[in-house]
Amino acid sequence: MTDILHTIAEVRATVASARADGRTVALVPTMGALHSGHLSLVERAATLGDLVIVSIFVNPLQFAAGEDLERYPRTLEADVAKLDAAADTVVFAPSVDEMYTHGPSSTRVTAGPVGDLFEGATRPGHFDGTLTVVAKLFNIVQPDVAVFGQKDAQQAFLVRQMVADLDVPVRLEIAPTVREADGLALSSRNRYLTEAEASAALALSGALAAAVEASSGGAEAARVAGRAVLEAETLVELDYLEVIDRETYRPVGDDFAGDALVIVAARLGTTRLIDNRSIALPPR
Ligand code: PAF
Repeated sequence: MTDILHTIAEVRATVASARADGRTVALVPTMGALHSGHLSLVERAATLGDLVIVSIFVNPLQFAAGEDLERYPRTLEADVAKLDAAADTVVFAPSVDEMYTHGPSSTRVTAGPVGDLFEGATRPGHFDGTLTVVAKLFNIVQPDVAVFGQKDAQQAFLVRQMVADLDVPVRLEIAPTVREADGLALSSRNRYLTEAEASAALALSGALAAAVEASSGGAEAARVAGRAVLEAETLVELDYLEVIDRETYRPVGDDFAGDALVIVAARLGTTRLIDNRSIALPPR
């Protein structure tokens, strides 16, 4: 049975006892509404640490005004049942008051210039809020390793940057995106989609595939091919499709050769989805 801890003190005591037994600690930060993508992170964590702590916390700090904070699914009981079936874990499910005892924390981690691009351009303050809660979780749990998903590529980039910039003693593991058989990347927000939107959402993975297919023509050809797929789908409102340098998270020039990432974000009705895929750009 999965243990559920609600307080920081309980987490610290559990970690201290594991450490006293010489056990290592792995952390999987989540906002709950767990799906197979999260469970794959948990399974990965179980191969990397002896004690696996899964945090489940819908962090108000990372939602911009007018976003889906209120309607974001909170399904703790179902999440715990899924974890029970997946691996031996301890859940940390704090309240907002427990995490932000003195109100919304006035000290924030700032994500820097990359935090204002792409997701950050559409969701002001999102990455400052995300990094602040991730830093708090790192300080509470003090894990040896923390596992994040590649689907949130910009988040993974910025967490890595924070860990390097602030000398946080944690190893990061970025696990691959899990997809439906039809290619749709798993996301807690997929449950908001109507049937028609879910079918139109396949344009995201389709656009990434088209970009990869056009990669021999260079970054601009890949962008054009990817965007064309999304623009052809009437239910999809494209936010961005870009080819970026993995080292800088900035768009690559047309002369770029090597391993890059094609990233996409689009809105379907009231739901915003993101996805990404590796793309190899050959010298031309
Ligand atoms: O990826 C998420 O679910 C969240 O951004 C995270 C990392 C748990 C921080 O709230």
